[in-house]
Amino acid sequence: MKHLSNISLKDHNTLKINASCSNFYVIENKNDLSEMIKINLGGSRHVLGAGANVLFKSDFKGTILQIVMNKISVLKESTKHVEVEADAGVVWNDLVEWSVNNNLGGIENMTSIPGLVGAAAVGNIAAYGQNISDVCVGLTAYEFETGRFKNFSSQECGFSYRESIFKNELNDKYLILSVIVRFNKNPEINSEYWSKKHGSVGDVLKDNGKPPYTLRNVVDAIIKIRRSKFPDMNEFGTAGSFFKNPLVSKGELESIRKLVPNVQYYPVEALHYVDNLLSVDSDFVKIAAGDILDNGMGYKGKWSGNVGLYKNHALVLVTNGEATGEEVDEFAKKVSEDFYKFCSVNLEREVVTI
Ligand code: EPU
Repeated sequence: MKHLSNISLKDHNTLKINASCSNFYVIENKNDLSEMIKINLGGSRHVLGAGANVLFKSDFKGTILQIVMNKISVLKESTKHVEVEADAGVVWNDLVEWSVNNNLGGIENMTSIPGLVGAAAVGNIAAYGQNISDVCVGLTAYEFETGRFKNFSSQECGFSYRESIFKNELNDKYLILSVIVRFNKNPEINSEYWSKKHGSVGDVLKDNGKPPYTLRNVVDAIIKIRRSKFPDMNEFGTAGSFFKNPLVSKGELESIRKLVPNVQYYPVEALHYVDNLLSVDSDFVKIAAGDILDNGMGYKGKWSGNVGLYKNHALVLVTNGEATGEEVDEFAKKVSEDFYKFCSVNLEREVVTI
């Protein structure tokens, strides 16, 4: 197990915040876990993936743990499915590429999302109509308190919109070691996701070629869409969507439509990944906060000091690599406050603030 002390986290978070950390442990194998239980980690603890969804508001006085195990193994195969176990340290996009190269469907629309597999499960990542919660059949985690391994079923992971039990009740109690994904051997192309800017994924596929489309065609189409709206991570600090799209009642939607006439929204019924709300909240819709920030408030491309909202997508907060965590936090708070003033809706963070 590698141990570093008093290091800068700048290269460990995609917002490029130069916070320091007292103790940083790199977990290289399962033996390191038994070592870990002997060490008094002290202070607070945070499990870090690639730091693609975290804001370090200030220096981190506790211990950071990072898993680097990165094996992908086939567990079982039936006529329709293949179940694969991916270590938490696998780069998410490597798993996407592995699946597409093996013509296994289920995560191709989630191409190019930065981060590692363990964090992908924690944040229940999703894009263009696919969600990790749709394909994750379970995971294995290490319990800090007891030093035991525990298997969680997908149900037990408590997945909902960009949330899981590991981001909430079990935050920092477990270290995810591996995630089991069930792939489809006869992939169906999922190209319905629609946005004002690009039309549907199907439209982009059509522009690129003729059916029948392969998983590689889908990956190429999504990369084309993503390139036009997300910043180059070599140029900017960014964590993708900084805020979540809020759920609002249909009554609230009507008020918002008076402010932003064609605001994009999605019926909650279509959002199977907010399944814990489905039974009670069919009166709710999810609104595209980026659309409101852009077409309602004119905030796309708005900067203050070293922090801004990206010129091609208003939900994506960017830094110039020089911003402090405090500065980002203040900027994000101001955006949320202004959003509330504009349409009386809370704009919550998707990014975890530490
Ligand atoms: N829009 C604008 N102006 C903007 C931004 C967006 O008019 O500045 C419009 C778009 O044209 C579109 C609608 O708003 O009609 C929604 O935008 P988009 O399709 O980009 O999706 P989003 O709701 O902003 C969500 C996820 C993304 C995911 C995309 C595609 C959240 C918080 N974000 O973004 O996930 O890639 O859908 O599925 O749910 C992430 O979680 O970090 C992330 C990037």
